[in-house]
Amino acid sequence: MSVHIDAKAEDVAELVLLTGDPLRAQFIAENFLSDALRYNSVRNMYGYTGLYKGRRVSVQGTGMGTPSISIYANELFRDFGVKRAIRTGTAGSIQPNICVRDLVFAMTASSDSGTNGMRFGGRHYAPAASFRLLDTAYRIACSLGLSPFVGPVVTTDRFYRDDPDEWKLWAKYGCLAIEMECAELYTLAAKYGREALTILTISDSLVSHEETNAYERQVSFTHMMEVALETVISE
Ligand code: HPA
Repeated sequence: MSVHIDAKAEDVAELVLLTGDPLRAQFIAENFLSDALRYNSVRNMYGYTGLYKGRRVSVQGTGMGTPSISIYANELFRDFGVKRAIRTGTAGSIQPNICVRDLVFAMTASSDSGTNGMRFGGRHYAPAASFRLLDTAYRIACSLGLSPFVGPVVTTDRFYRDDPDEWKLWAKYGCLAIEMECAELYTLAAKYGREALTILTISDSLVSHEETNAYERQVSFTHMMEVALETVISE
């Protein structure tokens, strides 16, 4: 048991999917796992463990933003011995050729968060995906006939920004999409010597202002989940 996860160490699998929305964790458990049992409901941040193709997999909600995912990722890596964590989430596109429902695999995560500035005493750490997981996910996505974009993303602390054009600087420097958790997940995976990857579905575009609604966000990301589940159980 940890501060925010009310479970025994053995209740959580070594292979974990992370979702910002705890109801998406429930959705994945109910639709993609067999024999799934909920091991956590503290703060309604649901976590489930079940079987995917015979392998034990957990799905844990993380909430939104760096501080929230930091709590769950720290506890999963440190207290539950999680070896591999794949975040499945949503992001806003900041490139004109990346549209809603497209998949983006985050190779690296730049950030406007103060967290790594504090952690590294002002030095600039470069949070990066596990190459093995990224390579595996890319191959799996291609074998499913998908065409994911792979590249750098931005982890922001502010969904609502004072300057509506702030994203354009990140876009100019090649970032593909903006979300709120990836940099912290990659940093903590590195700290604990574990594997991490972030797979994103584009839910809105800062370029075209195209959007998806909450219902679509919860239920329509089957491709992302298939890629994530196949990747998390890969040898
Ligand atoms: N900003 C930050 N996070 C997001 C966005 C966004 O525009 N869209 C989906 N997640």
